[in-house]
Amino acid sequence: PGVRLFELDAIAREYLEDGGGAPAFLGYRPSRHESPYPSTLCISVNDEVVHGIGIRDYELQEGDIVGLDIGVRYPAADGLFTDMAVTVPVGEVSSEARALIDTTRQSLDLAISMVAPGVWIHEIGREIQNFCEAKGYGVVRDLSGHGVGYKIHEDPVIVNFYDAKAPKVQLKEGMVICLEPMITAGSWKVKVDEDRWTVRTADRSLAAHFEHTIAVTAKGHDVLTQL
Ligand code: MF3
Ligand code: CO
Repeated sequence: PGVRLFELDAIAREYLEDGGGAPAFLGYRPSRHESPYPSTLCISVNDEVVHGIGIRDYELQEGDIVGLDIGVRYPAADGLFTDMAVTVPVGEVSSEARALIDTTRQSLDLAISMVAPGVWIHEIGREIQNFCEAKGYGVVRDLSGHGVGYKIHEDPVIVNFYDAKAPKVQLKEGMVICLEPMITAGSWKVKVDEDRWTVRTADRSLAAHFEHTIAVTAKGHDVLTQL
């Protein structure tokens, strides 16, 4: 409580640049966007799902939940990319907020436990959806996990729900992917703020997001962003 979002962004940027890395989101411009992303961290508070802007003045309040998402290029000049996110409570939070955070983390752990060569990617999304919806939560559909490594976003798209229309892709040894469930305490529907970045639940319910970068290995998987 009392910390401002831009202070967190500055700490992250300094720490990672001192370590020889570069922010991957700062200046990033997805194809359908006219403006580059303005911060090192994506910081998403309460009903913000992802892509909240890290350089905002907002002062965190006791009871908030805050998603911290960071992409890194290492080494800075010509390195490879990783991407990870956590959602953490600010001080004491409601039991509802705590349960949402726990379920979202558990759904990522469940998804990671499935990763091995030969696994069908749509089965991972199906597990995340079944696990979270059984507890009454919503699974955001407009955003997804993805391949990662030479760029911050690579193929394949990895949705967190079962989509009968999606192409069927199998994991192979050597692939590096980001799994990132975005789970809500209400409806799965989201909208984008006027800042063109912040993705927020349409019904203003709380949202949580966890993400890891995972290599597919002969034996199964290796989580590259485990702290
Ligand atoms: N962290 C997001 C992801 O996992 C990407 C954010 S890109 C940004 O895919 F430019 F919006 F920051
Ligand atoms: Co990602």
